[in-house]
Amino acid sequence: MAERTLIIIKPDGIQRHLAGEIIGRFEKKGFKLVAAKFMQISEELARRLYAVHKGKPFFEGLVKYLSSAPALIMVLEAEGVIDMVRKMLGATFGYDAEPGTIRGDFSSSRGYNLIHGADSPESAEREIKLFFSPDEIIDYELADADWLYGKND
Ligand code: RTP
Ligand code: MG
Repeated sequence: MAERTLIIIKPDGIQRHLAGEIIGRFEKKGFKLVAAKFMQISEELARRLYAVHKGKPFFEGLVKYLSSAPALIMVLEAEGVIDMVRKMLGATFGYDAEPGTIRGDFSSSRGYNLIHGADSPESAEREIKLFFSPDEIIDYELADADWLYGKND
């Protein structure tokens, strides 16, 4: 099985009608979608997701932001997907993020940055477990996998 990561289209991404645009970028890049869930994240779950930031000045605001309205949570699969997704997100704050990245193209804000992506294999494993049980993650083959992931060797 190839590497997996967790992404969340945050409440501002849904409210600003950007979910299709964001999913489209990942689809066109060739990542395999293996799980998806649309839900309003509870404050408790938001605290667990971002536990590493507990005690920082932005933590309470971050928890409120993430749990304020529905979000779309997905698991994407591909070799190297964790780092590729992080590059596609761009820098944390919209106003710092490079054009061509999701945050760089659609966010001018500080904390409201549209999307979350796990930042390491350890984070991805922990975060996927927070949102999905094993039977909610679907194992299947993409018909064009050779074209998407071929190495030309
Ligand atoms: P994420 O975890 O959501 O993918 O974002 P990230 O790795 O780029 O940034 P991180 O440092 O993990 O921060 C988590 C989220 O907290 C909000 N934040 N606000 N106001 C602030 O100073 C501040 N700093 C961080 C952002 O929503 C950020 O994505
Ligand atoms: Mg982070």
